[in-house]
Amino acid sequence: MTDRVIVGVTGATGQIYAVSALRLLDETDYEVHLILSNAAKVNLRQERDHSVGDVTELGDVVHDVDNIGASPASGSFRNDGMIITPCSMKTLAEIAHGHSRNLITRSADVALKERRPLVLMPRETPFNRIHIENMLSVTDAGAIVVPPFPAFYQNPDSIEAMVANTMARALSHLGVDVDYEEWQGLGR
Ligand SMILES: Cc1cc2nc3c(=O)[nH]c(=O)nc-3n(C[C@H](O)[C@H](O)[C@H](O)COP(=O)(O)O)c2cc1C
Repeated sequence: MTDRVIVGVTGATGQIYAVSALRLLDETDYEVHLILSNAAKVNLRQERDHSVGDVTELGDVVHDVDNIGASPASGSFRNDGMIITPCSMKTLAEIAHGHSRNLITRSADVALKERRPLVLMPRETPFNRIHIENMLSVTDAGAIVVPPFPAFYQNPDSIEAMVANTMARALSHLGVDVDYEEWQGLGR
């Protein structure tokens, strides 16, 4: 346990997932190392609810995606794992093929080689065969694929609550213990 996690944010739609993850982590003692791709910044501007500044202020350390010499690029940098949310098909493909062309995909490659948890939240619809094969490849390499598919059975009363529930479950795969509504079984 290092109480340190890496959060990658890429240019798939659903920047709300990144904001939710960062807010949940903000309630913990984890030191959050945040990396935004250039396309994530484009999407933040498009999706409008949150600015790039809103997101970066939630990271304890913010790394430039093109700074391939930053600390998360090395396996010697101790951490409890990495989550990429949302994860674009391009970033998924780079990870699946070991093509570490920026700090996000390099950090993910490092997580896999160091056998640290790597949680990917790929977002696209519909999936083509390449997307599905890449999800299989990263799963075989040890990543945990958690597509941000919402659950409705807890009857969330807002989009934020629905997203936070998904994110809490995703973060639990890194060992981050944040509160979420547990299923109590069907009432009789
Ligand atoms: C408004 C908008 C929405 C997008 N949504 C998705 C998406 O849901 N999934 C996806 O894989 N790519 C999506 N893209 C395309 C990616 O942003 C693009 O492939 C980009 O190169 C990804 O780069 P990155 O992985 O470095 O962030 C979207 C782009 C824009 C502008």
